Amino acid sequence: MVGEWYFSTLGALVCFSLLFQLLRFIYRHWFRGSFSWEPYRGEWAVVTGASYGIGAAYAVQLAKNGLNVVLIARSVDKLQQVAQQVEKNGAKSQIISFDFASASVDDWKRLENQLSSLTTSVLVNNVGVNVSLPTSFLEMDEEKIHQIVQVNIVATQKITRLIVPKMVQRKKGVVLFLSSGGGVLSPAPYLSVYSGTKAYENALALALAGELESSGVVVQSITPFFITSEMSKIRKSSLAVPSAERFARDSLKSVGYEVSCNPYWFHEFLALVISYLPLKLQIRYVAKLHRGLREKGLRKMSSAEKKSKI
Ligand SMILES: NC(=O)c1ccc[n+]([C@@H]2O[C@H](COP(=O)([O-])OP(=O)(O)OC[C@H]3O[C@@H](n4cnc5c(N)ncnc54)[C@H](OP(=O)(O)O)[C@@H]3O)[C@@H](O)[C@H]2O)c1
Ligand SMILES: *[C@@H]1O[C@H](CO)[C@@H](O)[C@H](O)[C@H]1NC(C)=O
Repeated sequence: MVGEWYFSTLGALVCFSLLFQLLRFIYRHWFRGSFSWEPYRGEWAVVTGASYGIGAAYAVQLAKNGLNVVLIARSVDKLQQVAQQVEKNGAKSQIISFDFASASVDDWKRLENQLSSLTTSVLVNNVGVNVSLPTSFLEMDEEKIHQIVQVNIVATQKITRLIVPKMVQRKKGVVLFLSSGGGVLSPAPYLSVYSGTKAYENALALALAGELESSGVVVQSITPFFITSEMSKIRKSSLAVPSAERFARDSLKSVGYEVSCNPYWFHEFLALVISYLPLKLQIRYVAKLHRGLREKGLRKMSSAEKKSKI
């Protein structure tokens, strides 16, 4: 019968597509080769937000791959510690103390001068600011909104436009954007502005990837879920939450494949599961989760305040 034939073909197609997806997933994360960093040896990588967290982990991994690293952030003492780790791996380092939230036109000019003598072939747009507690958009502090947009969008654009034109001239380079799963792969109620800036970074990266496709410069957006760091407030790694080191290592391997990607396997698996859930349900679930986190955070804060008073 026609009906039976129709359903069995459809079933076979669905199974085939699922199997294909599974095989591709396994291949990506466990079998395909790594991006070759060999041609980049001895050249410079600029990492923003490199004094701790994911940025510091990228800096060390880049050094392990033979690149020298310019480390940019505000805390000089912490930058120095990362610089030491970079040098322990046989690479050169430079630290630049810079505040992406409040830099003036002159500060940017100075940064441009400091970078002008280096052959930079890698830019890791890692610096990012988040809210300290999930907060309703309508109740957000205007200053905080400004800071998040200034760092995550305005400064990220500026440094990209500062560094990438020279890569295009040299027909060689890698530009990574630390976007986020929250904002790109799932909605994020109570993290509206942060997740919005991350979605913006992803869109910018995809556009730039298209514009630079035949220029020899590789552009990639990275959309992870949780990673251990100060920002995520998760210190201990687990199956769902890789350490910053593990994450940076996986990320540097997966450069040059997908334009937008999740280098850590469990994050990609999570993204796949999420993609099967109705959007309304995702929004409702995350909203509830973040309301809970906010309440927990507020309770902790007030008990910390209590402690400091005693
Ligand atoms: N952790 C996660 O679970 C996660 C998940 C998805 C995406 N991401 C993204 O990954 C990136 C790194 O996250 P992270 O968890 O490592 O963050 P983090 O622990 O908060 O570290 C942020 C880094 O940025 C620097 N920074 C902050 N504000 C700055 C400013 N105004 N000027 C200059 N430097 C500044 C900090 O150094 P100073 O304080 O010394 O300036 C630090 O080096 C972010 O873009 C984040 O959105 C993180
Ligand atoms: C951003 O901050 C909120 C509030 O502290 C937190 O719940 C969320 O996990 C943070 N996002 C990331 C990616 O760390």
